[in-house]
Amino acid sequence: MLILDGREVSKKILEDLKQEIKEYERKGFRKPSLAVILVGEDPASKIYVKRKRETSEKVGIHSICVNLPESISEEELISEIKNLNDDDNIDGILVQLPLPSHINTGKIIETINPSKDVDGFHPENVGRLATGIGKGVIPCTPLGIWLMLKHYNIDIFGKDIVIVGASNIVGKPMSLVFLKDEKATITVCHKNTKDLKSHTQKADILVVAVGKPKLITDDMVKEGSVVIDVGINRLENGKIVGDVDFENVKNKAFAITPVPGGVGPMTVVSLLVNTVHLYRLRHGFPPHPFAQI
Ligand code: GUN
Repeated sequence: MLILDGREVSKKILEDLKQEIKEYERKGFRKPSLAVILVGEDPASKIYVKRKRETSEKVGIHSICVNLPESISEEELISEIKNLNDDDNIDGILVQLPLPSHINTGKIIETINPSKDVDGFHPENVGRLATGIGKGVIPCTPLGIWLMLKHYNIDIFGKDIVIVGASNIVGKPMSLVFLKDEKATITVCHKNTKDLKSHTQKADILVVAVGKPKLITDDMVKEGSVVIDVGINRLENGKIVGDVDFENVKNKAFAITPVPGGVGPMTVVSLLVNTVHLYRLRHGFPPHPFAQI
């Protein structure tokens, strides 16, 4: 059984990004920059944002964080985003989700200029990914999983791929990534799927992004398959686990991502890839090769 080590793979990509950014600075260009908007005090969101900013600084991406109170109005948040849209020194804007319930998330995502939409959540970028028209931005978790599979030479051509979870952040864009050029056959399962196991058992590659500890057990996976666990669940004892029962499944799989240390670091590194990608486009350079599928 092969452990897909997101920490190792992300280290290599981070080193490449660091060298690339050094080269821009040597040529007299400014650093790429990322603005992160955090609304409220959600502890998990705070940790994710901190990690994103720390990793940015490590590779030479300038990061700013706009901390806004939980009580902020939709109009005020929109106005903050518009300021960042108009700031020529900002390449990427990320609004950490989830947002408080009084704010319409869709409206916020639509406010971000698609050329600064580092998450790839804007309908224009989703549409580019779905149609293959133009150069868009691929959402960070699907891109990270793609880069991980590429690193380990895991080919998707002709494979049966099952994705559990149909969110806008992971499941849906992941299906579009694998569907590109009709490479693989995709099944997307979700909370209304009748018989989950009947689908997951057929998967050559299984991607699980639900947020339920131990949802996937060994009877649900195909012998010799590749299992990608996107879940990050904090148990009562403080331990972080994924959606896959790792110990139970690991010996049946050919390859599996651990939690933590699997998809998580790849998501962060993809955010930085996308930041440098948007920086390059802003400067009239070609798209970043790592940001393409
Ligand atoms: N919350 C959980 N995952 C993500 C993500 O990839 N981007 C943003 N903006 N918020 C998130």
